[in-house]
Amino acid sequence: MHATSLQNIMNPELRIQQLTRELNDHNYRYYILDQPSISDYDFDMLLSELIALEKQYPQYMLPDSPTQRVGGDITKNFTQVEHRYPMLSLGNTYSQEEIVDFDQRIRKLTTEPFSYVCELKYDGVAIGITYKNGLLTQAVTRGDGVKGDDVTSNVKTIKSIPLRLQGDFPDDFEIRGEIILPHKEFENLNRLREEDEDEPFANPRNAASGSLKMQDPKEVAKRNLDCFLYFLMGENLPSDYHYERLQKAKSWGLKTGNFFAKCENLEQVFDFINYWDTARRELPFDIDGIVIKVDQIHLWDSLGFTAKSPRWAIAYKFKAEQAATELLSVSFQVGRTGAITPVANLKPVLLAGTVVKRASLHNADIIEKMDIRLHDTVLVEKGGEIIPKIVGVDLEKRPENAAVFEYISTCPECGTPLVRKDGEANHYCPNEDRCPPQTKGKLEHFISRKAMNIDSLGEGKIEMLFDKKLVRNASDLYLLTYEQLLGLEREIVSEDGKVKKISFREKTVENILKGLENSKKIGFEKVLYALGIRFVGETVAKKLAFHYRSIEELLKASLEDLVNVDEIGIKIAESVIAYFQRPEHLEIIENLRKSGLQFEITEDSQSLLSNKLEGKTFVVSGTFSRSRDEIKKLVELHGGKNVSGLSKTTSFLLAGEKMGPEKKKKAEQLNIPLLDEATFFAMIEK
Ligand code: IVH
Repeated sequence: MHATSLQNIMNPELRIQQLTRELNDHNYRYYILDQPSISDYDFDMLLSELIALEKQYPQYMLPDSPTQRVGGDITKNFTQVEHRYPMLSLGNTYSQEEIVDFDQRIRKLTTEPFSYVCELKYDGVAIGITYKNGLLTQAVTRGDGVKGDDVTSNVKTIKSIPLRLQGDFPDDFEIRGEIILPHKEFENLNRLREEDEDEPFANPRNAASGSLKMQDPKEVAKRNLDCFLYFLMGENLPSDYHYERLQKAKSWGLKTGNFFAKCENLEQVFDFINYWDTARRELPFDIDGIVIKVDQIHLWDSLGFTAKSPRWAIAYKFKAEQAATELLSVSFQVGRTGAITPVANLKPVLLAGTVVKRASLHNADIIEKMDIRLHDTVLVEKGGEIIPKIVGVDLEKRPENAAVFEYISTCPECGTPLVRKDGEANHYCPNEDRCPPQTKGKLEHFISRKAMNIDSLGEGKIEMLFDKKLVRNASDLYLLTYEQLLGLEREIVSEDGKVKKISFREKTVENILKGLENSKKIGFEKVLYALGIRFVGETVAKKLAFHYRSIEELLKASLEDLVNVDEIGIKIAESVIAYFQRPEHLEIIENLRKSGLQFEITEDSQSLLSNKLEGKTFVVSGTFSRSRDEIKKLVELHGGKNVSGLSKTTSFLLAGEKMGPEKKKKAEQLNIPLLDEATFFAMIEK
């Protein structure tokens, strides 16, 4: 008998238990031991089997089900919970002398011999995770140290955090650690954000913190956060040594990292610090120092605490690496969104292993505050951020020829006077449709993979078409002819100074035209995304396209209508309205439409399950027998629409369990009928 048919006849409850155990075991091998024993494909097959079974038999889903790793329901606002043990921080030191002081303070308080454990100081977000009877029951952020946010569903998506422990774990304990975002994931995330015109995160710590606070665990799951655990708390914990407790935690399947060490004396502590001060550059994640803890836990009580931190532990913070060099000139870059960035051109200098020639000068206010002048000796620092920044000026070294430089008031690319929005530090060039880097950026976005996906046109070709004035905006692309393109030439100067000519031959031209022709079949939701409306990323474009179903309907929408669409906030709504208010944008849309691009949803109308809910709008609130996302999907699949807030035009309030009393009251005031889950299903199943 085949394995699949065997599974089918198996008792679903047993099969769910078996799959849960097996998948958790694979996760442990993959994420903790780094020794996978099954292919990704096979893993995914088992996981989809479990997802399907749990959907059919939700009553059998286990608390440590690995399906929670992909994220469940959206949590609106986190619940605040009190920490069982306050979440303290550590005293910081920046020099080895201060560590000697720390050691002497301890020696004054105890005559017993003791040793230290040195650990990495992970640069992330602190978390306290509770395990009861081996199951992860709660995860809480630091908050103010007394109370924090319950982010359990988000933390459960982190694959290196076990949902169930193994071995001889205590019944009830908390383990503290740091949630981090590895460099590779940070770079991926920022690349995607830039594509979507979202502000990139300044450093992995901010990205980890932002990710952990997201309301939708499915989105958190995509971020690939990681976590290192470093501190056990509870009543009946094994061992009286911190080092041994960490080893124990490791044996229960918890990820403690491999980089902690027992140090018998200060010399060994300093060796550990010095080693990691350099070796940290090779780590795939950020650390900002070393934590030194007394190993003998029975001494912790007698050493006690100061107001904020324990006396038995201290953090040594690495100094951000700095170098001094001359500021040669300042240039101003215009980004795809029009934001101006002042950039310092420096005399090349070695910093943290790389040669630095350019550094960020932040913005006009900071330049003025630091009083930076040309030819000054400036201090460059490479901290958690990827781009080095100028952090100061050595005034004593100011040369005679140091010169004040003016911050620009017009765009260096198009001459338009710059604007500065209230409360924003950056200057912007408002000429979004004619300023070359902005229009080029818009074209690049238009052809990009997630938008119109015209891969026969790349950045270089777009630049050439733009520079040759053949294309000013997206609609011009569709007017290009074979004759215009054939033989177009451009010189490229490579890094070694060689000049190379590229020219469009028959094949290239044919491919470009074919790519453009094919893109006419791309769905409305992608066309809408491709227009490059600020804050309208892929997901928002999809929402708007499927909600309004055509550009005509979207154009008619008022600010209020837009805000009422599920998941559309005021910032997006304002941006959409502003975009459609510009006649030049309407002209582009009209021309694109004339060229045959899709401006309405067509094909999916056939894939609707029914049109029983056509013309009806729903607010879905509370909890249901399946996830709220699934319920919303059903509304859409039967031709209905989801909106976020109740208004006169809402047809129904679909009320699940635990719905807030306020919603109910408002629905009654507005005379909106309440539907329960059973009635809803009866409506669509009839
Ligand atoms: S021990 C009571 N160990 O740094 C002692 N903290 O400034 C609890 N951190 O609050 C903390 N790596 O968020 C400890 N190996 C490590 C750490 C670590 C990073 C964070 C943690 C802590 C802060 C102290």
